[in-house]
Amino acid sequence: MRKVIIAGNWKMYKTRADALDMLQNFLNHLEPIPEDREIVICAPFTALETLSSALHGTRVRLGAQNIHWEAEGAYTGEISGPMLVDLGVRYVIVGHSERRQYFGETDATVNLRLRAAQRFGLTPILCVGESKQQRDAGETEDLICGQLKEDLQEVDQTNLVIAYEPIWAIGTGETCEAVEANRIIKLIRSQLTNPDVSILYGGSVKPNNIDEIIAQPEIDGALVGGASLAPGDFLRLVDFQS
Ligand code: 13P
Repeated sequence: MRKVIIAGNWKMYKTRADALDMLQNFLNHLEPIPEDREIVICAPFTALETLSSALHGTRVRLGAQNIHWEAEGAYTGEISGPMLVDLGVRYVIVGHSERRQYFGETDATVNLRLRAAQRFGLTPILCVGESKQQRDAGETEDLICGQLKEDLQEVDQTNLVIAYEPIWAIGTGETCEAVEANRIIKLIRSQLTNPDVSILYGGSVKPNNIDEIIAQPEIDGALVGGASLAPGDFLRLVDFQS
């Protein structure tokens, strides 16, 4: 059974006070929504502890935005699985295009991080997606299949979420057409051995397009950047109409 997941990726936004303010506002206005929808907030490391306490007893799950592959060691600037587990984190984004683009993440390091997340009992949200240049050159399908092949080596597909995030649609307001996102997500599913992996779409998901995106048969949810930062927008996203 594929889980429906609406996950916010706060990227490098919000101090602890801002994070708490957003969360309390969100929770105060959260109407009963169907039980089968998982709500996740992937916050900056610095806000995790604050959010973890505030999320206690709610149905919102806590996520982080990266994880190192070792449990501990001389890796300045990195955060390990046991550190995240200690804070009540359940999900972790791995291989986001911003990590690949600006911080030199490769499929090899993405694979190591992914397997570490699973080893420490976290659910990885693996991001894949093509650039505008790659799309224009007709390389989208090959690129994505290549990323999956490398990133998923020796990965347990029973504890895995994938997000298709075309780079050209991230933060640009240029959403991938829902039907096209559905087509790529179907392709991603065809590369997997477990048919129950939830596959999300990410890239300029907003209150005005969430319903159309979720209505697609292959799309199991959304990974949301900008629209997850404001309580009103995020409330509308988790309350999508199917
Ligand atoms: P936006 O929703 O701001 O386009 O960001 C998408 C994203 O990168 C989520 O991980």
